[in-house]
Parts: sequence; structure tokens; C-alpha cells
Amino acid sequence: MKKRWLVVVLVMALFAGLTYFFEFSPYFPDRSPSFVTAGPDNVTLKFPEHFYWGVSLSGTQAESQQASDWAAFERDVVANRRFNAGREFGTTQPGNIRDFGKWSEKVRSQNSAFDSFYQQDIAMAAAMGINAFRISFEWARLFPRADMTEPSPEGIAYYKAVIAEMKRNRITPFVTLYHYVSPQWFFQPDLSGKRGWERQDALIMWQRYIDAVAEHFIPDVEQWCTLNEPMVYLYGGYVQGIYPPLEKRDLGEIGAVYEALLRAHVAAYQTLHKVATGRKAIVNVGLTTSMSSFAPLRRWATIDRLTTRLVEQTWNWEFLDAVQTGRMKVLVTGTNRTIPGLEGTQDYVGINYYARNYVKGSLFHPTLFETLERDPAANEPQSVMGWTNYPHGLYDILTRARVKYRKPIYVLENGTSDSANDDLARQRYLLAHVREVWLAISSGADVRSYFQWSFIDNLEWVDGFDARFGLIAVDYENNFKRTPRQSAKLYAEIIRNNGLTPGMMKPQ
Ligand code: BGC
Repeated sequence: MKKRWLVVVLVMALFAGLTYFFEFSPYFPDRSPSFVTAGPDNVTLKFPEHFYWGVSLSGTQAESQQASDWAAFERDVVANRRFNAGREFGTTQPGNIRDFGKWSEKVRSQNSAFDSFYQQDIAMAAAMGINAFRISFEWARLFPRADMTEPSPEGIAYYKAVIAEMKRNRITPFVTLYHYVSPQWFFQPDLSGKRGWERQDALIMWQRYIDAVAEHFIPDVEQWCTLNEPMVYLYGGYVQGIYPPLEKRDLGEIGAVYEALLRAHVAAYQTLHKVATGRKAIVNVGLTTSMSSFAPLRRWATIDRLTTRLVEQTWNWEFLDAVQTGRMKVLVTGTNRTIPGLEGTQDYVGINYYARNYVKGSLFHPTLFETLERDPAANEPQSVMGWTNYPHGLYDILTRARVKYRKPIYVLENGTSDSANDDLARQRYLLAHVREVWLAISSGADVRSYFQWSFIDNLEWVDGFDARFGLIAVDYENNFKRTPRQSAKLYAEIIRNNGLTPGMMKPQ
């Protein structure tokens, strides 16, 4: 009798233990049911003083074409008329740019023509109360040829003019040094046949660029972001093959590029700090990562939950963990080694956040998992591009980054694509995500900025010009005419109030 009871108790304990393990263990993340984080109603949510209310752009997406690998790719796309895309965004075939052929040569070569209109654009941002503007320098604008040891004087003069214009308008410039794009010559093979980040002289060439930037822009620029979304670059360029260099490698074969990016980050971090110290100037240097809120597609499937955890670690945290600890620990390549000088080379943690993704694991081929932009069985709000809106995910990531790194956090991108005239989806998205940032701050995360992607409509990489991310609409074929959308007015109101008022949060 006694024995039987013991067995029953043991079985129950085992069951409880397993349930607890699967339900609550961080190794098996579940789907959070909350779309937004619970918080106070009917009160004004005030942000800290000196909060950066910013907007983001990148050179290749918004300015005229440079002698870059992207420009070469675009020319090739046009020459071979590779404009294929399915009906939906995000389905552009590798080697194509969605509907690129329908735009005039003028539009294709100038994008949003920010370099022609920057004075007017910056004035418009200032009138909205924006106090921070993120741009990227193009390596190819400063070093269009491989044999140059000094940067192009025109390139330097252009960026100096843009930065001076921002400062005249009391806007703090945030400069990104690598937003996916390299000079075209960087992708010529070297003597050993290696291209791009795998060239033997890759870091020597990169150092030339960084030295020139530090020499000319310190102390004018304090806020630096070395790399934009290294995982997107690695995955898009070397695995999916949708961005230059259009390679499709196995996950295990991206280690050398991964390591080169870490080393490039260290070089930029150290150089900017060294020059700043020598000039008694201040710099704040970090990088920004693309963060997604990953959830298991089938919450009953342990494999989905386990794979979700692995994907999340790889995509969201691995690169930042390496920078924090100095150890490059890459799950998919099996690498685990110390990179000299890497440890602690981030003054802040940069976060770009857009949406939720679902993970479907594969029991027999663990590396052949799928990530989906939506759960076909769930009825969730999505953007025009089919991305699943999920404001609570931003809170979750910010509060986790706080615990992991104990550093200031800069949200350097958040936004949605919405081409509707009334712009309602973007307004809702903006309000909901700004609210999550406030809640994260009130839970103790030291978040210093919120940047909208994007200030003006621009080239959404292989998804072309039809994905409209701008607070300001660009009429491309009408001499790039700018028209503020309703969300630009809402953002200006948020900034004027330094936060959200109950009136703004009323459902529209
Ligand atoms: C990138 C931007 C891009 C945006 C929207 C971010 O991943 O940094 O260049 O346009 O997301 O897709």
C-alpha cells in the first residue's frame, strides 16, 4: 500500500516538474498572450528630460547612388530586368528588386534625393521638434576607389554640410558607419580570390575609412553607431542571397564574415575613442541590432519552443553578447573564441525593433527550421509588408536588454510600412510602441532614445520603393515632393508633450 503511494507521489512530482520545466523554463519560451503591456490608463506618460526623439535614414536608401556594391547590384538588376516579386512584399526573389523597372532612371539613381533636399528636410524635422537625426555615412562616398589613401574632399564636405545643418537646427546627429553597404571595389577578389570582408586587407581598408571619419568628424559628431544590424547583413547577404554579395551559404560557413564584422566594430570603437580622448571630446559608441519578438508557431510542439529559444539567442543576442563578453560564441558555426579588444566595446546597446516572428522547428533536421512573418491561424494586425505588429515585444526586449547588459539603451529604429492616405495604421503603431518604451523606462530600463524608421519614404532594399515607411511621403516622380503624413503631425505632438497624453491614446 505504502509503496503504491510512493509511486503515485513520484509520478505526480515528475509530471509537475516536467510541466514546470516546459511552461516556465527560459529554454522553452512560450507565446505571450499580451499584445500590449499592461499599464496605467488615462494619465500622461511623460518621458525623461533630454530624451532623444529621433528619425532614421540610411545613405543607400535615401541618397544618390555611390560607387557601391549596392549600386552595382542595382545596375545589374536593371540591365537584366530582374524585377520579379510575388504579389506580396517579402517575396522578392534573390537577385531581383521588386518592381524596380517601373521607376525612372532619375528616381533609381537618386532614391529620396536626401542629398539634394537635406536643408529642407532637416528644417522640416526641426519644425516637428525632432532633436536627433540618424544618417549613415557611405564608405563608397568617402573612398570610391581602392587606391585612395585620403577620403574624397567632396564626400567630406557633403557630410560636414549635413551635420552643420542639423546642428544649426539644434538636432543631434547620430552617424552609422556601416549600413549593409560597401564600396564596389571592396568586393573585387584579392590575390587569394577572397572578396569583401574575407579579403586579406579588409580590415586595413576599413581602418582607412574609420581614420578619415574620426579625423574629420570628431568633435562634431558625438553619437556613433558602428554597424547596423550585422545579423541582417550576414543572413541577407550570405545565406538568403538577397542582398549583395548575393551568396547562399550554409549557416556554418558565415564565421569568417561574422568575425570580420566584430573586428571592424572593435577597430571603429577604439579609433573613435582614441581620437576623441586626444581632442578632449566626447563620443558615445555602440552598434545596433535587429531584434524580433520570436514565438513558437505551435505552442504544443516542444521542438518549436526549443528552436525559438535558439533562433532568438542567435538573432537577437549573440552579437551583442560577444561585444559585452569579448567572446565570439556562435551557435551555428560552433565558434567559441576570444576576440582581442572586443570585450565591453559598447557604450550603449542599440535596438531596432519592428515585429513578431514565428518559429517552426524541425525534429529531424534541427537547422532546417522556418521563421514566419505571421501565424496563419491567428488573426493579428499586420503591416502592408505582412509583418505582425506586436508592441509588447518591444517592452520585453528592452527590459531583457537592461538585465543582460546594464547599459543605456538607444532605440534606433522602429516603424511600419503604410501607404494608405489616412495613415492610421502607422499612427496606431507609433502610439503603441512609444507607450511600450515608456513602460520599459518605468520598469527601470535606461532608454535614452526613440527613432522612427523612417523620416521620409525611401528604397526598402529589395522590396523597392512601394513599401512606404516615411512619416513624410515622397512623390518620387514629381521631383521628390515631400508631404507630411498625419503620423508626422502625431509624432510632433508626442514630442511637444514629451510623451503621450490620454487624448492621444483614444482609439481612432
Ligand atoms: C533596416 C532598414 C530597413 C528597415 C525596414 C531595418 O532592418 O536597418 O534599412 O529599411 O529595417 O525594413
